[in-house]
Amino acid sequence: MKRILITGGCGFIGSNFIRFILKKMPKCRLVNLDKLTYAGNPKNLYDLQGDSRYRFVNGDICNIDLVREIFAEERIETVVHFAAESHVDRSIHGPGEFIQTNIFGTFNLLETARNAWLKNAGSSLFSEDCCFLHVSTDEVYGSLGATGLFSETTAYDPRSPYSASKASSDHLVSAYFHTYGLPVIITNCSNNYGPYQFPEKLIPLIINNALLGKDLPVYGDGKNVRDWLYVGDHCEAILTALQKGQVGRTYNIGGNSEKQNIEVVRLVCDLVDEMVGTLPSGKSRQELIRFVTDRPGHDRRYAIDASRIRDELGWEPSMTFEDGIRKTVQWYLENRSWSEAILDGSYQQYYEQMYAGR
Ligand code: NAD
Ligand code: DAU
Repeated sequence: MKRILITGGCGFIGSNFIRFILKKMPKCRLVNLDKLTYAGNPKNLYDLQGDSRYRFVNGDICNIDLVREIFAEERIETVVHFAAESHVDRSIHGPGEFIQTNIFGTFNLLETARNAWLKNAGSSLFSEDCCFLHVSTDEVYGSLGATGLFSETTAYDPRSPYSASKASSDHLVSAYFHTYGLPVIITNCSNNYGPYQFPEKLIPLIINNALLGKDLPVYGDGKNVRDWLYVGDHCEAILTALQKGQVGRTYNIGGNSEKQNIEVVRLVCDLVDEMVGTLPSGKSRQELIRFVTDRPGHDRRYAIDASRIRDELGWEPSMTFEDGIRKTVQWYLENRSWSEAILDGSYQQYYEQMYAGR
């Protein structure tokens, strides 16, 4: 039985991954360590209550004693590390938490794994069954012009406090492999979308505002490009990297689905119009689009060359953007209470602070 520590499992990708793994690997033990920040939502996993393969620990990856205790008590042999502060705009307004969680938290997990996974006391060999999979982002590579793709050999050039903190954590993970031989794998993925994504991110924000008939804020000229990947495909890619990946290697993961933000926003408007009808005025939701002041240091374009994971491990995305975005809008429509519970809380204050007068 695989004994896996998932960090940040109450967030967007982590919660999708936990549900995915429990289906794919009936014989496993999953421990989810999550601090339940504003982005962590236990309701994302409400259906797992009573599943004896799953344990939730409410705690911080920066808490050394707690992390050590979990490794020892649960005899953890695999880590899939999602926990992070993940939103670029928040990192611009307050970078401190990003440095603490993304850098120090990762260091703390690595140190604990290094001590726990040594074959014998005094040896420098690690048990073959262990692996530390670090879930990272394409943002570490910086910003592309009109052409080109990020490959695993592209030089790091992070440009926001968020991406700089993720780049630092990637470097630490890589250093633990080269210096100590700790068995690690790093994945750098493009923009995810799908169920349970916190509504501060572009796609759920636009879906929710469109449903409520609110303005739809598009930064700058709306022509920044992101490569969108359905979250289920990301989960499959992570599992593939865990099962077949080479220790010490990095794998880029992408959706082969580059879109300008304005295209994505227009498509969401059309889908919401189609599914719930146009605005009471009879107008399309595209009328709600507002171009607002740009994000400082806004990366222009991300695009991933995912040929390594395809050629070496046989993974490719299976969901087209057109199908994935339809499925996603449908999910938010069918789960209005999930969004409403978030939108009613401190999110209002965040939204005011981030968007008022922009
Ligand atoms: P998220 O913000 O939805 O979830 C983050 C989770 O981490 C939350 O449950 C939160 O409570 C938890 N957390 C935060 N600080 C913690 C701490 N100190 N200790 C324990 N738990 C803590 O993030 P997400 O979008 O699901 O992203 C997950 C990971 O994937 C991140 O590492 C992110 O950098 C990476 N990633 C995200 C995307 C994307 O498009 N969302 C793309 C590529 C990579
Ligand atoms: O590329 C992977 C990264 O994707 C992950 O590492 C991050 O955790 C994740 O948040 C995401 O970062 P982005 O900054 O690309 O995602 P976000 O949803 O915030 O924004 C997507 C694009 O939409 C970006 O160009 C900014 C723009 N945008 C965003 C918001 C919230 C808008 O135009 N309006 C908005 O209101």
